[in-house]
This record gives sequence, structure tokens and C-alpha cells, in this order.
Amino acid sequence: MSFLSVVSPFALFILCCRSLIHAQQPYVAKATTNCSNTADSALGYSCNGLNKSCRAYLVFRSQPPYTTVASISTLLGSDPSQVSEINSVRETTTFPTNQLVIVPVNCSCSGDYSQANTSYVVQQGDTPFLIANNTYQGLSTCQAIQDQKSTGTVDIFPGETLTVPLRCACPTKNQSDLGVRYLLSYLVAPGDAVSIPSVRFGANTGTTLEANGLTEQNPTIFPFTTLLIPLQNPPTSSQTVAPPPPPTSPPPSPPPPSPSPNSNKSSNKTWVYVVVGVVGGIVLTLIIGTIIFFVFFRKSKKQPSPVIVSQSSEAHEKPLNKKTDEESLEFSESISSIAQSIKVYKFEDLEAATDNFGPSCWIKGSVYRGLINGDFAAIKKMNGDVSKEIDLLNKINHSNLIRLSGVCFNDGQWYLVYEYAANGQLSDWIYHSSNEGKFLNWTQRIQIASDVAKGLNYLHIFTNYPHVHKDIKSSNILLDSDLRAKIANFAMARSTDGMEGEFALTRHIVGTKGYMAPEYLENGLVSTKLDVYAFGILTLEIITGKEVAALYREENRNLSDVLNGVLSGEDGLEESLGQLIDPSMQGNYPSGLAVLMVRLIDSCLHKNPADRPAMDEIVQSLSRILTTSLAWELSNNISGYHSSS
Ligand SMILES: *[C@@H]1O[C@H](CO)[C@@H](O)[C@H](O)[C@H]1NC(C)=O
Ligand SMILES: *[C@@H]1O[C@H](CO)[C@@H](O)[C@H](O)[C@H]1NC(C)=O
Ligand SMILES: *[C@@H]1O[C@H](CO)[C@@H](O)[C@H](O)[C@H]1NC(C)=O
Ligand SMILES: *[C@@H]1O[C@H](CO)[C@@H](O)[C@H](O)[C@H]1NC(C)=O
Ligand SMILES: *[C@@H]1O[C@H](CO)[C@@H](O)[C@H](O)[C@H]1NC(C)=O
Ligand SMILES: *[C@@H]1O[C@H](CO)[C@@H](O)[C@H](O)[C@H]1NC(C)=O
Repeated sequence: MSFLSVVSPFALFILCCRSLIHAQQPYVAKATTNCSNTADSALGYSCNGLNKSCRAYLVFRSQPPYTTVASISTLLGSDPSQVSEINSVRETTTFPTNQLVIVPVNCSCSGDYSQANTSYVVQQGDTPFLIANNTYQGLSTCQAIQDQKSTGTVDIFPGETLTVPLRCACPTKNQSDLGVRYLLSYLVAPGDAVSIPSVRFGANTGTTLEANGLTEQNPTIFPFTTLLIPLQNPPTSSQTVAPPPPPTSPPPSPPPPSPSPNSNKSSNKTWVYVVVGVVGGIVLTLIIGTIIFFVFFRKSKKQPSPVIVSQSSEAHEKPLNKKTDEESLEFSESISSIAQSIKVYKFEDLEAATDNFGPSCWIKGSVYRGLINGDFAAIKKMNGDVSKEIDLLNKINHSNLIRLSGVCFNDGQWYLVYEYAANGQLSDWIYHSSNEGKFLNWTQRIQIASDVAKGLNYLHIFTNYPHVHKDIKSSNILLDSDLRAKIANFAMARSTDGMEGEFALTRHIVGTKGYMAPEYLENGLVSTKLDVYAFGILTLEIITGKEVAALYREENRNLSDVLNGVLSGEDGLEESLGQLIDPSMQGNYPSGLAVLMVRLIDSCLHKNPADRPAMDEIVQSLSRILTTSLAWELSNNISGYHSSS
């Protein structure tokens, strides 16, 4: 794959709302290949840092004969103990070929350029170009090597010791003001686009472009050159492991089908009864077994029982932390193919699709319904920096996360084109105060909770770095025509890794009242357990039909006390469930499963984030509750669905 193929049209548009392009360091581009071209950029990064010397990081790909901590440290003039520490390996470790190795160096100004000195003994057959490009992989340039020679001759001789200046830089005043503390000299690999190393090291693609004097109009980068990645924190060894390729199709095991409420049930009735009759006994035994098992093991949360980690059929849940070259290649390829699948629309096309953003196409807020090529799409007008949301949605592909299909930038505004969810916001379905006759039965509610859990689990585990949605609430959950849920609005989503984690601590607290976990409100602490808490509140709303605000108001007690009251059965189980569960279901729910739901919600609302279950445990629990609910529904012939339209 040539580097050209990854310069996707998408990359040209991402972030073009960033106004400032102050080249911090010009990108070296092709200058490295012509040793008689002594452009400044080829001689080194200019000495424009806030400090004249600083800690910097280089990235090296292990290649024979430089595959050990010792040989790489010697080659790059670094300290082996620091190299082993930052890569979380022993000093005696031999890296697999092509493994990314982080190398800390002291970077300082030497004349007009900033560099980290190392020395190299010339071998037979070496040329400055071979040393710079093949041995140092582009961390130095032939021009810079020649420039170090004070003797006036550019010839090199075997056995001669050369000073090799490695390309590094110290953050400028501007970068420092933005919280950048280190610059990492990343070695561009074939197939890389600026976003790939940026995402990998937790940097913002726009900041990286800016740091290298690149623009979104011209983001082309070449293999065997260095790209500066601005970092707020030192890089970590986890970032040297290739992230798993994002699944390119919805999860392998489709969730159980949702009840198809409007289908011609009667024609299937006889068949259904026969199946229920024959299988009923067996199923019932299984159900009871499951419930008993579940109830018993729910208590020992710290130690997930073998039942909870039952052999999941979701093949993609296997941890993918073994790096192979194929994986990194696949990852770059999938990024580029997904990026190419995001269409860049002309503004006129969107105007035509939405009747000039007319009232007939208006859905809510700044969201419009558009008809594009015969399919509906939701088009959202957005101001400000949408790069994070685009960047994230560009990487994810899951049937329970809303899909971004296109973007458009016009007159200072972004327009994001999403897949259309015909049944709108979940909030319009669950709150009695506003549901206008819309109704969800028990199984549909559990299905929705399970969908949301799967989407969040994907976000927490399968994205490049764990991402936290940070704004899970009923109005950010959309329902498609089959009432299957999709998580939307990733404007606040952030990576838990690197610079962005710290941002959360320094920024003001954002979120929706009632859904925010106590540790976030009090300390601004961001983790995936934030979403677990919000998910607990959301699920409570789903089964009670009440808004969280109303729940807090009506129950003058702590929510946990309310739930525990139900669980302890102090007023009689049926009675207290009856008070809690949405009365519009008229008691049509399996109380055994309702108790399990209450227990699950209670565990999500633990004050201590560590005591809350992880999303994957919740997915497992909910899928069992859903299966049992479906069986219950079949045997009770419940069909409480009333269509809204
Ligand atoms: C720093 O930012 C200011 C304006 O914000 C700009 O004028 C200046 O050129 C920038 N300096 C560098 C070194 O990029
Ligand atoms: C290399 O650079 C020099 C100086 O900029 C230029 O004169 C020469 O034509 C270039 N050679 C090639 C092959 O591009
Ligand atoms: C510059 O040096 C000062 C004092 O040594 C240090 O506190 C600061 O973090 C440095 N800034 C950067 C961006 O390296
Ligand atoms: C960098 O400088 C620090 C102190 O100035 C020193 O302890 C360290 O060993 C140096 N590292 C290298 C690789 O020279
Ligand atoms: C690096 O080497 C150059 C000459 O080769 C020298 O001028 C400079 O002082 C050295 N820098 C450091 C930090 O040793
Ligand atoms: C630079 O080095 C790499 C690997 O060592 C090699 O594949 C590539 O062809 C070299 N570039 C040039 C222009 O020779």
C-alpha cells in the first residue's frame, strides 16, 4: 500500500475549522532524499523551544542488529535503564522485529538546531544517506550528519566516529501554553496518516498537524521521516503495542432478535405453541438454573464466577494485545478504508436533502432529517471543534453506536451526517410525561438496555484507547425502526489515556445533572465507570418510566436506599416492585427478572467506582436477562406494543 492511498479525502477536511496554523517546525517531507539539498528542515528542527534543552522521546522500530535494549540505547545515545523502564521491559530484553521502542533522550540546542547527539562508528559501505535513512530510520538526515563535520569535508571513512544529530525538539511557548510538555519524534511508517500516530499517542490530530507545519489541505507524510507528536504526558509502553483493528462489521454474534411486534403473529401462533410446549420444560429448567446461579453469584462481584465469564460467542472479545505486523498493517488499512467511507458532502447537496433546512425537515435542536439518495439521514449543524467527535466516530463501527456517514463544512459551520434513527430519542418513549402514547413493553426495555450496554462496552474496550462517552442519558440514545438502541452524541466523549485524561481534571465539569457519578462531580475523575454510573441511572429510568430528576425529587431518599428497600423486600417484594416499576406496564413484567434488574442497577450506582461492575459484566448479565425475558414473553404471549405512528 502506498502512502498516497491513505491520504484519504477525509483527512483533508478533518479539523479545518481550526483557525490557527502556526508552523511550529516545518515538516521535512522529501528533503531527506536529496543529500545536496540543505534546506533548513533537513538540517534539524529549529531551536525555537521555550527551553534550550528538554526531555524528548524518539520512536525506533527494532531491526536487526538493533533489537535489544542495549544495542538500541547505544545506537541512539540513550540510557538503557530508562529505555527498559519506559518500555516496561528488562534491560536484557530482545524486541521482536519491527516493535516500536520508545527512546528518551536529552534534546538541546546546538547552533540553530535542536538535537540529541549520539555517536556512530562508520561501517564499510556506509554513506551519510544509508546511515541516516537505513540505520537511523530517518531519525537523522544525511544533511545533518554532514553538517556536524567541522573539517569541511563531507566524506566519511570506515572506522571514523561520527556525531549523529537525532531529530528532536522542545515545545515552543505556544505549545507549552497549551499544556504540551514533550515532543515525540515519531518515525512515519508506510501507510501512516497523521491521525494514526496521533491517536496512538493520545494527541489531537490537529495539534500534530500544526506542530509539523502541515495543514489539513496538505497532510501528506512520507515513510522514513520524523513527525513531531505533541504530548502532555510521557509516552507509555502500552502505546507501542498495535491496537486491535476495529471490527469492520457489527459484532459477530448478533444480539437476540427483538420481538417483532407488528408481525403477523397469529399465523405463527400454532407453531409457537408447539415449540413452547416441547422446549418449555427444558427452557424452564435452564431459566431457573440460570436465575439461581445468577442470584448467588451476583454477590461475589469482585470475583466474576465462571458463569459470568461463560464462553462468550462474541469472538471479538478475546483480548487482542499481541502485536503482529499484520495487525498494525490491518489497522492502518481499516482506518483508511473507514475514513474513505465517510463522505464529504457539498453544502448544496445537504440543502437539497433538507428543503433548505426548512421547518418540514426539522427534527429537534440543530438536527434535521434529510433525504439523501433515497435514504433518510440525520443532519446535525455544529459549531466549534468537532474534530474529536469525527475522529472517534471515524474509528468506531458498531451497530449500537450511531454511524457517521458524512461531513460537510460550510461558512464556518460543520454539518455531520448520521444514520437516521426512525424512532427518535429514547427519552420520548420512556417518560410518561412526554411519551404521547408511545409504549415499550418489558422485553423491549431490556433489549434497549442491552443494546446500550453493548455499545458502551465496545467504546470502553474495543476502541483504540478506552473511551468514555461522558454523557449517557436517555436523550442521547436513539431508537431505530426496530426499536433497537444506538448511542449518539459523542461531543463529550474522550479517551481515558494521555493528555485528554488530564484535560478532564482541569476543565470544568460538564455533563447532565443526575447522571453524573459522584467521583466526577467531586474530583473531576474520568474513567469508564462514569458511564457505568450513568448507565445505571438510564436503566432505572427505563424500567421506572420516570426522569432521573423526578426520581430524586419523589424519593426523598438516596436512590440506593430506595433500591435496597426493594431488594430487602421490606414492604413485600411485589408491593415495592409495583411502586418502582413503570405502572404503564400494568404489572406485565416477570418480577424475578425485575429484581435482577434492580440489583444490577444498584451495583452500577455504587459510590466507589471500583465497586461498579465493568461494562462487559453488565453485557453478560443483561443478555441472560434478555434471553429469559424473551422466553417469559413467549410463554405469556405478552405483546404490549402500540405503534406511535
Ligand atoms: C504563537 O502564536 C502566536 C499567535 O497566537 C503567533 O503569532 C506566533 O507566530 C506563534 N509562534 C510560533 C513560534 O508558532
Ligand atoms: C538536489 O538538490 C539540489 C539543491 O537543492 C538541486 O540542485 C538538485 O537538482 C537536486 N537533485 C535532485 C536529484 O533532485
Ligand atoms: C522549561 O524549564 C522550566 C524550568 O526548568 C520547567 O519548569 C518547564 O517545565 C520547562 N518547560 C518545558 C515546556 O519544557
Ligand atoms: C539527561 O540528563 C539528565 C540530567 O540532566 C541525566 O541524568 C541523564 O542521564 C541524561 N540522559 C541521557 C540519555 O544522557
Ligand atoms: C552535539 O554535538 C555538536 C557538535 O557535533 C556540539 O556542538 C554540541 O554542543 C553537542 N551537544 C551536546 C548537548 O552535547
Ligand atoms: C530507507 O530505508 C528503508 C529501510 O531501511 C528502505 O526500505 C528505503 O528504501 C530507504 N529509502 C531510500 C530512499 O533508499
